[in-house]
Amino acid sequence: MGNMLVTGGAGFIGSNFTFYWLEHHPDDKIICLDKLTYAGNLSTLRLVMDKPNFKFVKGDICDRGRVFDLFQAERPEVVVNFAAETHVDRSIDGPNVFLQTNLIGTATLLDACREFGVERYHQVSTDEVYGDLPLDRPDLLFTESTPLHTSSPYSASKAGADLIVQAYHKTFGVPVTISRCSNNYGPYQFPEKLIPLMVLNALQDKPLPVYGEGVNVRDWLYVEDHCRAIDLILQRGRPGEVYNVGGHNERRNADVVKLICKELGKPEDLITYVTDRKGHDRRYAIDPEKIHSELGWLPETKFETGMKQTVQWYVENREWWKDIISGEYQQYYKTMYNNLVGA
Ligand SMILES: NC(=O)c1ccc[n+]([C@@H]2O[C@H](COP(=O)([O-])OP(=O)(O)OC[C@H]3O[C@@H](n4cnc5c(N)ncnc54)[C@H](O)[C@@H]3O)[C@@H](O)[C@H]2O)c1
Repeated sequence: MGNMLVTGGAGFIGSNFTFYWLEHHPDDKIICLDKLTYAGNLSTLRLVMDKPNFKFVKGDICDRGRVFDLFQAERPEVVVNFAAETHVDRSIDGPNVFLQTNLIGTATLLDACREFGVERYHQVSTDEVYGDLPLDRPDLLFTESTPLHTSSPYSASKAGADLIVQAYHKTFGVPVTISRCSNNYGPYQFPEKLIPLMVLNALQDKPLPVYGEGVNVRDWLYVEDHCRAIDLILQRGRPGEVYNVGGHNERRNADVVKLICKELGKPEDLITYVTDRKGHDRRYAIDPEKIHSELGWLPETKFETGMKQTVQWYVENREWWKDIISGEYQQYYKTMYNNLVGA
């Protein structure tokens, strides 16, 4: 594909995608633009930092001058936008930065695509734009034609970004695609999200704070399967189209945490049920039929295998997370879970 601009490449999925892409497409060059917010970590990219076909640029996708200068200098053929504010709890605490990055940042990238021309702009979106599903209707799944019906400032900002992307396609002819993926898990995920939070707390014998009664259901996908889906969409996806990505892998939050306890040999009585999140979505479940039938995508990693690998990764990569959970993270954790002993 030549030069590819990956935004948000110092975060969880963007870094995994960068590793995936450079391994599978070694002749391409990746330029990573990342603001390095609390969620971005330059040490995550150490494996590729010295590669001649990788370049890191610190910058904000909302900074028009910076983005346009970068397009002028690098002339990317493909843009994959992972950069976003991503944590629902933080969006409830302070929506503004979500609107700024997720809406204005997306529009700024699209303006640069219009100005300089690209072969493809890909927007990494989420199943959360569809809102939630009832717990007692397992027959209901999100399809690409499910109406957008958001719950949190995070999901509303992502849905707004999707609409901007589609508008730039229809109005200005920018060749866009959108993927809406279910919850990802894997290495390098910031430990405010459910799986790494629980793994790290369990490793430190701290309480495992689960919202409400732990009955909320998420549809989990191993991050590499998501990266492979984006690869297929970039190669063969039709411009203007949305592709749902998910692996029919619905799990209750409490069951995911119990599996982590089992993997680490920790007692389940570390689990502590805490006051539920405001507007907490009950269930997400993706129908991946379109990406399966059009592009032949199917998930390859079974949940039990992926979880084993993921838990083991956090056990073996203490260096990566020990700095992250000092400083600002401590303050955040106290604010979120201050009623917990050992928090
Ligand atoms: N994690 C999931 O389960 C999941 C599921 C579906 C979709 N997504 C979407 O995938 C994308 C990546 O998610 P993630 O979990 O890797 O997020 P993350 O929070 O781990 O990483 C986000 C990255 O974006 C960077 N960033 C934030 N604001 C920026 C800005 N203004 N300019 C430049 N860089 C900025 C951060 O520094 C960080 O490196 C997001 O768009 C998210 O909505 C995530």
